[in-house]
Amino acid sequence: MALVDPGASLPSPRRADRPGALIEMRGIERTYYMGDNVVRALAGVDLTIERGASIAIMGQSGSGKSTMMNILGCLDQPTKGTYALDGRDVSRLSRAELASVRGRMIGFVFQSFNLLSRTTALENVEMPLLYQGLSSRVRRARAEAALERVGLHNRGDHTPNQLSGGQQQRVAIARALVCEAPIIMADEPTGNLDTRTSYEVMAILQGLVAQGITVVLVTHEPDIAAYARRVVTLRDGLVTEDRTQTPVIAGGSMAGDAAAHAAEQAAAAAAGAHP
Ligand SMILES: Nc1ncnc2c1ncn2[C@@H]1O[C@H](COP(=O)(O)OP(=O)(O)O)[C@@H](O)[C@H]1O
Ligand SMILES: [Mg+2]
Repeated sequence: MALVDPGASLPSPRRADRPGALIEMRGIERTYYMGDNVVRALAGVDLTIERGASIAIMGQSGSGKSTMMNILGCLDQPTKGTYALDGRDVSRLSRAELASVRGRMIGFVFQSFNLLSRTTALENVEMPLLYQGLSSRVRRARAEAALERVGLHNRGDHTPNQLSGGQQQRVAIARALVCEAPIIMADEPTGNLDTRTSYEVMAILQGLVAQGITVVLVTHEPDIAAYARRVVTLRDGLVTEDRTQTPVIAGGSMAGDAAAHAAEQAAAAAAGAHP
C-alpha cells in the first residue's frame, strides 16, 4: 500500500459539531480463513453511531461481538464493506495509518484491566502519553486530571494490587481518557467484577456519556446492556435487533463515591462548566 502523509487528513477528535454520523458501517463482512475452514464472523453489517451515543453490542458467544469491536476500534479491517469514522473512510488504511487514527479517536477498556502491576495508578494512566513528546510535568498533570475524572485522584500512588477490582478498572478508564479521544470502546468491562463494582464502572461510563463522549460497550450480560441507551444484538454475524431504551441509571448508594463524582461531572458538563 502506498505511503500517505498520516497527518494530512486525519479526523480531529474534538470536532463535536461536525455534521454526519461519527461511525458509519456499510455491508461490513469479516471472514477468517483457517486452512480449509472458512468462518464468516461478520456477514454484512450496517451500523450508524451518532456522536455522544451510548451503545451496547450484545450477543451470544461466537456471534461476532469481538470481531465487530476490533473493526470498530481500527484494530482489524473488514474483508468487505466500508467503514467511515468521523467522515473518513478507514476501511482500507495501512497498519500505521490505522494506529494513528486509533490513537486520536479511541480509548480502549478491556475485561482484564491490562494495568502494569508494579507501576502506580498515575504512571499507568500516563503510559499512552509517553510517545507524544510531552514534558513529564504536562504528562503528570493530564494523568492526574484523568484520575480525577474517575474519582481516584487520591489513589495515584497506589499500585494495582493495592486497589479493588472496580478501582483498577477505573484506572484503566482514566488511561483510556488521557489522550482525550472522543470514543471509549469497552469489551466486557465488567466481566471480571462482581455486581456491586460493576455498578461503579457503569456509573463512570454513564458520566462520560453525559460529558459527550461516545461509549461503545460489548457485553453478553443484559444487566449491563441495560445501562446503555441503545442495544444492538448480533447473531451469526448479523444485526438481528437494534433498539433504543431508557437506560437504568447506575448510581445510588451502590456505586458510592464513583457515582457521586460522575454525577457531579455530568452536572458540570451540562452547565457548560467543564472544559
Ligand atoms: N482470529 C480468528 N480466526 C478464526 N476464527 C475466528 C477468529 N476470531 C473469531 N473467530 C470466529 O469468528 C466467530 C465470531 O467470533 P467473535 O467475534 O470472537 O465472537 P464473540 O466475541 O461474540 O464471542 C466465531 O465463530 C469465532 O470462532
Ligand atoms: Mg468476544
